Amino acid sequence: MTHDEWWRDAVLYQIYPRSFADSDGDGIGDLPGIVKHLDHLNDGTPGSLGVDAVWLSPFYPSPQADFGYDISDHQAVDPVFGTLADFDELVEQAHARGIRVIVDLVMNHTAVTHPWFTESRSDRASAKRDWYIWADPAPDGGPPNNWLSAFERCGPAWTLDQATGQYYLHSFTPGQPDLNWRNPRVRDAMRAVWRFWLDRGVDGFRIDVAHRLMKDPELRDNPPEVAHARRHVSHPSVRQRNLDLPEVHDILRDLRRTLGEYGDRFALGEVPISDDARLVEYFGGDGMQTAFHMAYWEQPWHGEAFRRTVDGLAGRMRPDALPTYALATHDISRTVTRYGSPERARVAAMMTLTLRGVPCVYYGEEIGMRDAPPPAGRELDVDGRDGTRVPMHWDADGTGFTTGEPWLPPGPDLAEVNVARQARSPESLLHLYRRLVWYRRGSQALRRGTYRSLDAPGDAFVYLRSAPGERLLVALNFTDRPLAVAPGGLPPSGRVELSTRPDRETGRQASLRPLTLAPDEGVIVRLGDS
Ligand code: NOJ
Repeated sequence: MTHDEWWRDAVLYQIYPRSFADSDGDGIGDLPGIVKHLDHLNDGTPGSLGVDAVWLSPFYPSPQADFGYDISDHQAVDPVFGTLADFDELVEQAHARGIRVIVDLVMNHTAVTHPWFTESRSDRASAKRDWYIWADPAPDGGPPNNWLSAFERCGPAWTLDQATGQYYLHSFTPGQPDLNWRNPRVRDAMRAVWRFWLDRGVDGFRIDVAHRLMKDPELRDNPPEVAHARRHVSHPSVRQRNLDLPEVHDILRDLRRTLGEYGDRFALGEVPISDDARLVEYFGGDGMQTAFHMAYWEQPWHGEAFRRTVDGLAGRMRPDALPTYALATHDISRTVTRYGSPERARVAAMMTLTLRGVPCVYYGEEIGMRDAPPPAGRELDVDGRDGTRVPMHWDADGTGFTTGEPWLPPGPDLAEVNVARQARSPESLLHLYRRLVWYRRGSQALRRGTYRSLDAPGDAFVYLRSAPGERLLVALNFTDRPLAVAPGGLPPSGRVELSTRPDRETGRQASLRPLTLAPDEGVIVRLGDS
């Protein structure tokens, strides 16, 4: 493994441990289940996906009010997922295959059952009272201010603790009290958590809601424009008092310093901030190395919309910064569902794996799984996200995931959309993902090259990726009609290296004056002079 900022070259893969693979038949995925499938991720050959790192969503002890994002012990493994020994084995086995391991760091809040909170709520005079954010009721007995939970269903971000007569702050469910990062003891306790996992060999952290760690010490109301904004994402133009405070960056710099002591470790931020000028402060400097560009997956299916979004951020980033691009996560609807067709998912995969950034593939995206929300009345998640978290479709009968009763039923398309079936078909999305990742691995232009978008009709997105001696043109057709694109300044022809359509013959020269794309087609073209 190279220590030269490895993450710049990396393709990440997100595993939702509950839903990836179950080894003990209880219907819930676990750490040994992940180990069994590491070869799918990277066995060192193009017959595997070829990813460089996995990001594991939380597997720590938790009452599961927010499926693990409510942690009751930051330094252990929930028995449902296995043991610390299983975790060590996972790290060892992953590293043996050149796969790095990134774990989720949830620092904004704990579970309501965390011993810190139990002690904090036990008495107003408790030594840990100030580890969380407590406030007296408003004069009418209601919550101390107008802050709202990020989850619509949860209403105010405050819950009254009857026993001590004060409200505690929770930016998410009432089961997730927010820590008070202004208390130095909280910082010390969390630093110990960082070291615990770094010492165990993890390669980095995904920082949950990194922008939320600090709140206005005076707990002032949010301005009226955002008083009712329940969305997780910041308001584009109005400063909120409960997120994106400048002091957040002190914590992130502190984290980065600690990572630096370990050499080559890295931090990826979840920062749902819609203003690019503010978002770019979260990566590329002396804080986290990268952060998700969350506007990416919010775009409608339109070439110009993606171009504007990608270029908008690129124009503001520090020159050496790289954003992280994902098409779906455990919070976000899957690509085929969002964009409506498997053909579009192929184009979206090509885009994500060829932009200048760190691509992150959510489990199941490589086979085009769809959202499969449970029937009304059977929902489990507080924020309606079950559909994007169904068990991985390993095979046609679901036994590849579990021999028991799965915690969520698989999608109705299990028999057609599964790894075993797609592995047999060279035309499958799985094969396209493999080709794209391995092509990227071999291309300096895609891994470390420059990016420049080119003028094209609004329903195409066309860009150049260049490194010394290598120039690649990526042209993506966002329509279901043939589309001719003729960006200026290019040689008359180039060699088509890869297409999202199985019926395009690759390895042949194609005219670039114009380049005619088939319906729903994306291509990578090597320019003749490289
Ligand atoms: C963001 C996580 O991705 C989401 O799943 C969780 O509900 C919230 N943060 C709270 O931790």
